[in-house]
Amino acid sequence: MKEVKVLDRQFSEYLTSDEIQGRISALAEKINEDLKGQDVLFFGILNGSFLFAADLFRQITLEAQISFIKLASYDGTSSTGKIKELIGWNEDITGKTVVVLEDIVDTGSTLERIIGELTLRKATAVKICTLLFKPEAYTKEIPIDYIGFEIPNSFVVGYGLDYDGYGRNLNSIYKLIK
Ligand code: IMP
Repeated sequence: MKEVKVLDRQFSEYLTSDEIQGRISALAEKINEDLKGQDVLFFGILNGSFLFAADLFRQITLEAQISFIKLASYDGTSSTGKIKELIGWNEDITGKTVVVLEDIVDTGSTLERIIGELTLRKATAVKICTLLFKPEAYTKEIPIDYIGFEIPNSFVVGYGLDYDGYGRNLNSIYKLIK
């Protein structure tokens, strides 16, 4: 089993590059079929989704656009503490089918924040596509339309996903062992 060290932690290979790419091709094929004839705007959620978004979008044959948004955390003054601000919204999404591209859906808080914003801005339809999904950690009701892999509730790195900022450039996805 291939192992890598990222900072102080040891990880073992969990999904190979070939497995990831194979699944992305299948997702792209399904999206191309489902959204045929629609005005589609893909939204990659930075930073983690940049590789997934690039590899998927290359295989989209629809007349489509892509843009990226980022959720930045900062300590707010409200009682809830952390506030997440969305950066990078420039597009008019009225009348468009929006496909949100996530690297991983864990608790679903990020997703909920984004969906709220899209609803306010009057997208015609919103679809969610995530490479990885942790069903045991998910606390929301929002249905996820396209899932690459359902994974157990453990920490993963690689293919865009980071551990403390590192490990994003690994071609496979690795699971924490210690
Ligand atoms: P959520 O808001 O709890 O669904 O978390 C989503 C975000 O948490 C992702 O976009 C990742 O940035 C981060 N995240 C969640 N699980 C992992 C993991 O296993 N490895 C790396 N990042 C993760």
